[in-house]
Amino acid sequence: MAVREIVIFPDDRLRAPTTEVTEFNDELKTLVQDMFDSMYFYEGIGLAAPQIGVSKRLIVIDIADTDDEGNVIEHHPKVLVNPVIVENVGEVESQEGCLSVPETYEVVHRAERIKIKFYDVDGHEQLEEAEGLLAICMQHELDHLDGHLFIDYLGTFQRNRIKKRLIKFKKEHLKH
Ligand code: NI
Repeated sequence: MAVREIVIFPDDRLRAPTTEVTEFNDELKTLVQDMFDSMYFYEGIGLAAPQIGVSKRLIVIDIADTDDEGNVIEHHPKVLVNPVIVENVGEVESQEGCLSVPETYEVVHRAERIKIKFYDVDGHEQLEEAEGLLAICMQHELDHLDGHLFIDYLGTFQRNRIKKRLIKFKKEHLKH
């Protein structure tokens, strides 16, 4: 188990260009496991590689089934390597948060349903349709691969206010 440190906004690593994964080897599997470990540790439902400082086109997601008390009944772990959205349908409002933007929840607009192409961890090409929270999560994580955050959809004034608050948050919470 290797929980990696989450990169917190504002940070250039969240804006850096990412490269496609080209080798489906043990190193990739270890990185994926670290991403799952980190996502579960910090109680996220999705994590993109740039959020642990790795500029690769790689995402992990787990929209688990839970009971009324929020206990996990069944996990649905997913690994998306080099994902590309090939179709967008409809529009929904979604209230989002992000492990890289702590203590911040804002409403943004997303496609309601998507068709997404990606590779699994063994390098096999997959085509999937997604809707609901899974589709929203996939769009949010894909944005990370292009250096975008959900707060980029907000106005400049609002984003700057969040930025100021998080600079303060980092000073208080993170060791340098
Ligand atoms: Ni995020």
